[in-house]
Amino acid sequence: MLTKQDIIKRILQSRVSEQTDDMVEVFAPSNIALVKYWGKRNETLNLPQTSSLSITLPDKGSTTKMYRVDGTEDEVIINGVSLSTEHPFAKKASAFLDFFRPYSRSYYCIDSTSNIPIAAGLASSASGFAALVQALDFLHQWDLSESELSILARMGSGSACRSLWNGFVEWQCGEAEDGMDSHGFPIDVHWPGFKIGLAITSSEKKSIGSREGMIRTTKTSPLYSAWPEKVAHDLVKMKQAINARDFSLLGEVAESNALTMHATMISAWPPLLYWQPETVSQMQLVWTLRQQGIQVYFTQDAGPNLKLLFLEENESVIQEHFPNLDIVSAF
Ligand code: PMV
Repeated sequence: MLTKQDIIKRILQSRVSEQTDDMVEVFAPSNIALVKYWGKRNETLNLPQTSSLSITLPDKGSTTKMYRVDGTEDEVIINGVSLSTEHPFAKKASAFLDFFRPYSRSYYCIDSTSNIPIAAGLASSASGFAALVQALDFLHQWDLSESELSILARMGSGSACRSLWNGFVEWQCGEAEDGMDSHGFPIDVHWPGFKIGLAITSSEKKSIGSREGMIRTTKTSPLYSAWPEKVAHDLVKMKQAINARDFSLLGEVAESNALTMHATMISAWPPLLYWQPETVSQMQLVWTLRQQGIQVYFTQDAGPNLKLLFLEENESVIQEHFPNLDIVSAF
């Protein structure tokens, strides 16, 4: 069984590290999946059961400053707060950096600021890990390719492999046992006027994280066996919608894909329900607006917050109905 260490060795062994002592600073955006990743075929390497496809939130994400420190511990600062080494985030970041230590021989200060709520299903770990691997690359001047960075980010958090580019990105699941073909690919389609509205009703940390949630769903949901086929179908339709700039097709596929993913979660045991009463009333409002002819759709990840999808021409009417919406232009 291959380990993360084996893969990092493959990627870094031919790299000469000319480490700089300076501080580097990197911004990586969050991304929202329109066709979701839910379930792993390899839990160690974060290799997915299916491909997935996302849209990047270009100005929402993580800014990470990184420099080397003397001593034998990393220091992790999140949103200005220095975390104890026992904090789950600090442990996760340090454990990830341990895989690189044979090549970097360093401990670090990682000072990361996120302008989205952390761990509330808004892809903060995706932007966090995408920023971290790029910061490591700059600091050590490894000059890694985008695909290599995407593979490294994937091993931190699966969806992070899509956070290296703006616009639409496909994470092709790949077939190789070592996962060297499982990374993000940017889709070269520009769609001005494409808006994403973050309907943030809760910034609380989710109780069951995606790793545990995926394991529980794949092991216990009787509906999970239908998921890979649903994704395969949705990916074809989604790419068709993107290429044709067919917004209603895109919205229908995204919403139906998210609801199907949640159906697998709800039917897991113990059940995984990320919905709050507010989530449901917002879904109903979206459906009411659609009945009135307004093209608005939603998607939802492993948290209670909906992300609304709409075009610029409907921005003001949607804002009227969702006054607290944080609206992001995707392009
Ligand atoms: O990358 P993770 O382990 O945080 O999982 C992401 C899971 C979803 O957000 C629900 C779907 C996705 O494709 O981003």
